[in-house]
Amino acid sequence: VQTVHDPAAMQAQMRLRLAAGERIGLVPTMGFLHLGHRSLMALARPLCDHLVVSIYVNPLQFGPGEDLETYPKDPAGDAAACAAEGVDTIFMPADLYEQNHCTRVTVSGLTEGLCGADRPGHFDGVTTVVARLFGLVQPSIAVFGEKDYQQLAVIRRMVRDLAVGIEILGGPLIRDTDGLAMSSRNAYLSPPDRQRGLSLHRALRAMSESTSQSVADRLGLGRSILTVDSLDYLQIVDSESLRPLDIIDRPARALVAARIGGTRLIDNIGLS
Ligand code: PAF
Repeated sequence: VQTVHDPAAMQAQMRLRLAAGERIGLVPTMGFLHLGHRSLMALARPLCDHLVVSIYVNPLQFGPGEDLETYPKDPAGDAAACAAEGVDTIFMPADLYEQNHCTRVTVSGLTEGLCGADRPGHFDGVTTVVARLFGLVQPSIAVFGEKDYQQLAVIRRMVRDLAVGIEILGGPLIRDTDGLAMSSRNAYLSPPDRQRGLSLHRALRAMSESTSQSVADRLGLGRSILTVDSLDYLQIVDSESLRPLDIIDRPARALVAARIGGTRLIDNIGLS
């Protein structure tokens, strides 16, 4: 695996590969890679000639008081994970933006509810960094995890609206053996907090196993199972538009965000 730090060098290298007819795949990450990230690399690997994993903790998507400064890092472990998945290039810039960067990419509507309501500006930060990564890496395909379900929907919408011409693939959410959705932020959880964190998956599973068509019933069931310090949201929405539903009469998704200790966890599940 080669590691490239300089954005201009990255763009120049990928331009040469494109000119040689290669198909580039991109898995954008913020590092501290776990099996969830590795499953995204495994999904992309057979679909491209040159697989790039970007590792960049993007300041634009963190709000005041969030964990930008303490976000976990493990460059040696990340390099080993990428090597094991057959990644060709790790793109790890110290800084990704130009000095006087002043452009923001905003997807309206889809970003207003759920995590967008609790983390103002977060999705503008995500779409801005992803748009810049797309410009530098010039991939044909890019893979994002369904763990960040709203993020995936927002990126798909940006790509559609701006006719970006990159195929976006969603990789299924990967759970640890105890059921906790894999996330770099799980590293913050003490063992008792982790136990309480498992209630997110238990609540979602019970909601998906319920046969009630009533959203109120299923939300009540989910809330009765959660053992968290505070609930940012528990919602059932249309899988595509992310609009809240009253009755489950179409493909739907249950999504939860909650705080345990100082850690914010998210999880989601499909409902039929
Ligand atoms: O999902 C993430 O890790 C980040 O939001 C992403 C897509 C790498 C953008 O910084």
